[in-house]
Amino acid sequence: MNNISIVILAAGKGSRMKSNKAKVLHNISGKPMLYHIVKESLKVSDDVSIVVAHQKDAVIEEIQKHFSNITFIEQDDVNFPGTGGAMKNVTAKNSHVLVLNGDMPLITAEALGGFLHTSADIVLSIFDLEDPSGYGRVKIDDGEVSYIVEQKDANEYELAITHVNAGIYSFKKEVLESYIPRLSNANAQNEYYLTDVIKMAKEDGLVIKPLLVDEEHFKGVNSKVDLASAEVIMQERIRERWMSEGVSMNLPHTIYIEEGVRFEGECLVENNCRITGESLIINSIIKSSSVIEESTVIDSDVGPLAHLRPASYIEGTHIGNFVEVKKSTLKGVKAGHLSYIGDSEVDEGTNIGAGVITCNYDGINKYKTKIGKNVFVGSDSQLVAPVEIEDDVMIAAGTTVTSGKVAKGSLAISRTKMRFVEGFYYKFFGKK
Ligand code: UD1
Ligand code: MG
Repeated sequence: MNNISIVILAAGKGSRMKSNKAKVLHNISGKPMLYHIVKESLKVSDDVSIVVAHQKDAVIEEIQKHFSNITFIEQDDVNFPGTGGAMKNVTAKNSHVLVLNGDMPLITAEALGGFLHTSADIVLSIFDLEDPSGYGRVKIDDGEVSYIVEQKDANEYELAITHVNAGIYSFKKEVLESYIPRLSNANAQNEYYLTDVIKMAKEDGLVIKPLLVDEEHFKGVNSKVDLASAEVIMQERIRERWMSEGVSMNLPHTIYIEEGVRFEGECLVENNCRITGESLIINSIIKSSSVIEESTVIDSDVGPLAHLRPASYIEGTHIGNFVEVKKSTLKGVKAGHLSYIGDSEVDEGTNIGAGVITCNYDGINKYKTKIGKNVFVGSDSQLVAPVEIEDDVMIAAGTTVTSGKVAKGSLAISRTKMRFVEGFYYKFFGKK
């Protein structure tokens, strides 16, 4: 593709996340931080490596779910901890190596463009922050980068510096080969810092080019607070992408759409909706406060306040408020109010009345419900699965269907006989 190899550092623990999960596996818009970086990196280079150590099996497994052409390099994080230690086992194929921290989920291929096609020995990304805390400070003298000092090693004067190291660098291959073996861990964290290469290179008179970048693309995520603010930016991008593809949104900032979701045709998403996984929405209206998880919705309207759980397929269907659907296929159906439809297949022309429940679980196993065409399921009915209701059936309101099968064209009714006790009210409460 070009003369650049990409190395993503993803071996750290990320202790500031206060989590048992490796930092790079924390999700942004439904996909691990590292996924987003790899996706953008592959647009720039076909030689992408990831350095792993902490929870390496989990990191490798997660990335291999999505990408097949990534090289994994193991860091000896016991003897060589730190971002410099992470580079010890790297041997790059190409003449230039772009090193990316694995905790920068907002990076884009476009933003990486500034590091390519350079004659400098090192290109270093820098941004200015009012509150630089957490980042390495970049000491610039006479317009040239002198060194980077980590927050934990900085003196009072250095802590006040507002130029920070964004955490992406391009190195000439031979610069890494020459300086990485010479890094020392004589610092506050007893780690090998990749950032110390800068100081050594500067002393040897190498050309170090600072590249001014923006926080919107280069923000590092070290804590749950950072994760939440990166999510805000990623969500804005996802919504704007779909709106520019023609999806209408009411109060878009209240809508959460995951990375894998796709829309086609004319769609409207109302406020407060959450759409996750690999959901596909075609020519449909998702009304306010609905949640759609890993489901397909075609030519339908869903909500307000409806919940489609994973593996639901809804076509030509009206799903109203307080309806929950799970792992079910509904085609040409009306389910307007207060229902649970789970492990079911429901066919064309069928009406699911208010309060209908498919009883799909007996405490041990799950069972299927099959409902044919033009069935009228009366309100407050329970369908005890496994059950099949054939075409043109009427289920009377309040019926509990337990027969396993209701034959075509019939009525199913189960009710206790209605009776009236005259004057009971007055006997019970007394006359007023
Ligand atoms: C690093 C930089 C800092 C910069 C900041 C930008 C160093 C020493 N400091 O600090 O100057 O301002 O990024 O966000 O590089 N990692 C490994 N192996 C390790 C340690 C870390 O692969 O032994 C990986 C982590 O998984 C992470 C990345 O390197 O993806 C950065 O590590 P992190 O601990 O977040 O470094 P910062 O303290 O943020
Ligand atoms: Mg970091």
